[in-house]
Amino acid sequence: MKTKSHHSQTFRSVPAHSKPFDTSHLQKILQEQLDLYKNSTLGSDLEHQLATQTIPLGAHSTFQSFEPYPVSIVSAKGAWMTDVDGRKMLDLSMGFGAMLAGHLNPDVVSELRDALDVGTLFTTPSPLSRDAAERICRRFGIDQVRFTNSGTESTMYAVRTARAYSGKEGVVKVEGGYHGSHDSVLFSNKPALAKAGPADAPTPVIPNASVAGEVYVVPFNDADALENLFEKHSKTIACFIVEPVLENIGIVLPDEGYLEAVRDLCDKYKVVLIFDEVKTGLTAGPQGAAQRLGVIPDLICLAKSIGGGIPLAAFGGKAEFMLPVSDGRMPHLGTFNGHALAMAAVRAVDKICTVAALDKAESLNKDALIRIREVIDEYELPAHTVGFGVKGCITWSDTPVRNYRDYKATNFQIAELSFLWSLNHGVITPPGLDEQWLISLAHGQAEIDFMVNDFKEFAKTIRG
Ligand SMILES: Cc1ncc(COP(=O)(O)O)c(C=O)c1O
Repeated sequence: MKTKSHHSQTFRSVPAHSKPFDTSHLQKILQEQLDLYKNSTLGSDLEHQLATQTIPLGAHSTFQSFEPYPVSIVSAKGAWMTDVDGRKMLDLSMGFGAMLAGHLNPDVVSELRDALDVGTLFTTPSPLSRDAAERICRRFGIDQVRFTNSGTESTMYAVRTARAYSGKEGVVKVEGGYHGSHDSVLFSNKPALAKAGPADAPTPVIPNASVAGEVYVVPFNDADALENLFEKHSKTIACFIVEPVLENIGIVLPDEGYLEAVRDLCDKYKVVLIFDEVKTGLTAGPQGAAQRLGVIPDLICLAKSIGGGIPLAAFGGKAEFMLPVSDGRMPHLGTFNGHALAMAAVRAVDKICTVAALDKAESLNKDALIRIREVIDEYELPAHTVGFGVKGCITWSDTPVRNYRDYKATNFQIAELSFLWSLNHGVITPPGLDEQWLISLAHGQAEIDFMVNDFKEFAKTIRG
C-alpha cells in the first residue's frame, strides 16, 4: 500500500496556509534583478565573452552555463568564493555538493601536500590506494570498491557490472533522476512532458546523439509501477539504478517504506539494485544514505563528497556483485584510477568527517530549514522546505513533491528569480532552478544567519 509520509530520517515542512503570487510583480522584479546582475558583474561578462571563443558556452560543463552568463570565480576558501569583480559570495553550491569539507580545508591540503612529496601517479597499486579502499569499505559497509575519476564513470561501471553479473542488459531508472552523462542512464533526465507518456508508466525519453539500449523508466515513490514493469520485463532487466533520495530535482524524499519495497522487488525479480550515492554519500551522514535509511543495495556509486574537491569517485558493494570485476567478465580500467592525490584526499576526508563534525553541520542545516520555514509562514509563501543530512532546499510549491511530475508542477518563475536574487545579494547556489544547498564543515552560524536573512529580504521583496 502507498503511504505519503516521508522516511523518518528525512525532513520536510509544508505550510498550512499560503497565498498565490502576483506574477506581473514577479516579472518586474526579475527584470530589475537581471539588470542589476548585468551591471554588477562586468568582469564575469568579459570573462564569458573571452571564454566562448575557445570553450563551447564558455564553460567546461553545460551544467555550469546559464543565461546571460555565469559568475567567474578567482578564489575560494572555507564557505566563501570571490568573483572576478571582487564580490565575496557565500557558497551554498559547494561544488554541486563535492566540497563537503569546505574549500581548501587545511587537513585536505596537508594530506595533498604530503602526497606531493612522494609522487602523483604510479599506475600500479600502493599502500595509499589500499588504505583509501579500506576506509571507504569500512565507512559505507561494503566488501569491495574500485576508484574512478567521476560520478559518471562510477554509474557507468556499476551498470556494466550489473549486466555482467546478471547476464541481462536492461536498465531501469526513475523519471527525473540524473546519474551522469553516459548513454545508458542519460534518458528521461528532465523530459518534456509532451514526450514523457503517462505518469504511472512513463516512456523513456532519449536525448539526441545518445544510444541508450534497453531502458525503462518508472516514477519515484511508486513501488506498484516498478512491480508492473518487473512483471513484464524482468527477464531482460539487469538493474534498477536510483538515488535513495533524489537530489537533482530539488530534494525529493522517499516515502516511508518505498525503498524497502524496492529492495524486496529487486530480490524477487532478480534485478541488481544500484544506489547512486554520488550526491548523497557523506552529505547524508557519516555512513551514507543507504545505512542511514536502512536499505542496503547490491552496488553503490560514490563521488563528490568523498574526494574533498579532487576528481574522485568509486563504485563498490557486496563481494558477490563485484565478482565480475575480479573474474574478468567486466574489466574496469583507467589510467588515473587510484591517483595518489585522490587517495590522499580520501584519507583526509575520512579523518575529518567524524560523527561529531557531520552532526554539527546537520544541526546548522536544521536551523536554516526551520528559520526559512518561519519566513515562509510569515509571508504566506507557496513554498516548503526539504532536507536530508547537510543538504536542504526550498521547493516552490505548497504541496509535497514526491516525483518528477509533482516537480514539473512547481513554480519555475519564482525559482529563477530566487537564484538570480541570491547571486545579486552575495549568495551562490547551483545554476538551474531546482538545486539544493550544502552546509559544509566550513559553514558556521554566521553563514546560516546570512543565508536566512537573505531569504527574508527576498520574501519581503516578492510580496511587495
Ligand atoms: C546523482 C548523480 N549521479 C551521477 C552524477 C555524475 O557525476 P559526475 O558529474 O562526477 O560525472 C551526478 C552529478 O551531478 C549526480 O548528481
